[in-house]
Amino acid sequence: MALKEGSKQETHVLMVTLSSQGHINPMLRLGKRLVEKGLHVTLATTEFGGQRMLKASAISSTTGPNFISGIRLLFFPDGFSLDYDRSNNLDHYMEYLAKIGPVNLSNLIKEYYHDADKKLSCIISNPFVSWVVDAALANRVPCALLWIQPCSLYAIYYRFYNKLNPFPTLTNPDMRIELPGLPLLHSHDLPSFVLPTNPFRSFPRLLSDMFQNMKRHKWVLANSFFELEKEVIDSMAELCPIQPVGPLVPPSLLGEDQSLDAGIEMWKPDKTSLEWLNNQPPASVIYVSFGSIIVLPVKLMEVIATALKNTNHPFLWVVKRPEFPSADGAGELPLGFEEETKNQGLIVPWSPQTKVLAHPSIACFMTHCGWNSMLETLAAGVPVIAYPQWTDQPTNAKLIVDGLKVGLRLQPGADGLIGNEDVENCIKQILRGPKSEDLQKNAAVLKQAAREAVASGGSSDRNIQLLVNEIVGSS
Ligand code: UDX
Repeated sequence: MALKEGSKQETHVLMVTLSSQGHINPMLRLGKRLVEKGLHVTLATTEFGGQRMLKASAISSTTGPNFISGIRLLFFPDGFSLDYDRSNNLDHYMEYLAKIGPVNLSNLIKEYYHDADKKLSCIISNPFVSWVVDAALANRVPCALLWIQPCSLYAIYYRFYNKLNPFPTLTNPDMRIELPGLPLLHSHDLPSFVLPTNPFRSFPRLLSDMFQNMKRHKWVLANSFFELEKEVIDSMAELCPIQPVGPLVPPSLLGEDQSLDAGIEMWKPDKTSLEWLNNQPPASVIYVSFGSIIVLPVKLMEVIATALKNTNHPFLWVVKRPEFPSADGAGELPLGFEEETKNQGLIVPWSPQTKVLAHPSIACFMTHCGWNSMLETLAAGVPVIAYPQWTDQPTNAKLIVDGLKVGLRLQPGADGLIGNEDVENCIKQILRGPKSEDLQKNAAVLKQAAREAVASGGSSDRNIQLLVNEIVGSS
């Protein structure tokens, strides 16, 4: 098809992601940096994701044109009705999406990029939509992967799924793992998907497909920064290189202008949190959040509640209401706790987390170690109490606690269970223990390093510029 008279061909990038906030936001933030460097960027996610954004007022419609900070949004069907419980039927959902996704994405590409003025020069996907590379190559468009976990996880999975190193097995479940660029890892430091006990089928299958076919991606990018994971990044240079372009957190957390941000909120953040924090003493508040997916068992909710109450410290606790409540009360607070502690703490269903972490009243962050939360806390310079649950979180905790030394890991007692004394002790240690000062100093050093990585000429900025040059060069 010929160019319209007098028009210049635009270089376009299409980003494709699942619809969770933790997957969309890093993509939007990378997209925003590409827009600043002159590219045209569109983000495509499922119609289900579009509906959630509509509810949270992040967009105005799922049918008309929507833009977030100069990035166009498009939605494709995932084959399920809007009220289908995707999280409790993950295996079935992911398997079906892998079949229908490439067809619907190809239709979207044909519909939106048929105009000769628009040259679709790169498709960027992220993990768990490994089928995107098929649609990209079928449409003859080079593909990039934005790896949204640490480069350490990329290295572990690459070696595991390509059978390059031994990993725990059913007969040898507790073996220690020594891998280039990484500290010695015990089973409890490994991502749960590589353990023989992992109950999920679809995630490991998707990861396995993706890592065995990683070289089909022309570029592999990561939401991390070089100074954070030098050794492991270097260890992958010969095998299958990864280029960090992060941290992809709100620019205001990195000392940049808030107007540069491109994030969405899937749930409305509680408006009173910041006001409440304004009334707390500096560096006094324990912030507790387990991210967007985890629903804690009722026993653990009781343990954390008792510990917080006993410390007498102010706390801000995100207790996200389960989308599909369970009969055993998982994710629910103990009866009467909110009322009993109303002068000590604030409980909210969803917080403005990045603003919370940047608030001077925050002392520490009790977290499940989701990678977005980890990058946000690093950028804010806040030490963590790590209580990882599954997937990448155990390895993230290892990196943060033993590698970067900006946190303490909540250790179960001799019976293998976490009791409220364990939590109380960890809070005491992080606030006033012998390591407390060093943890804060290390956090401050990394906060500065994060800012330098994304600043003009910093390590991540240079990697983004290289990508842009190659995308434009191959157009
Ligand atoms: C998932 C996985 O669980 C995690 O292991 C992986 O690293 C990323 O994908 P999630 O559990 O949601 O993510 O955790 P996380 O990566 O920490 O992302 C949560 C996001 O929600 C963060 O950006 C955080 O700022 C935001 N958030 C969380 C809020 O805005 N308000 C809240 O109250 C809680």
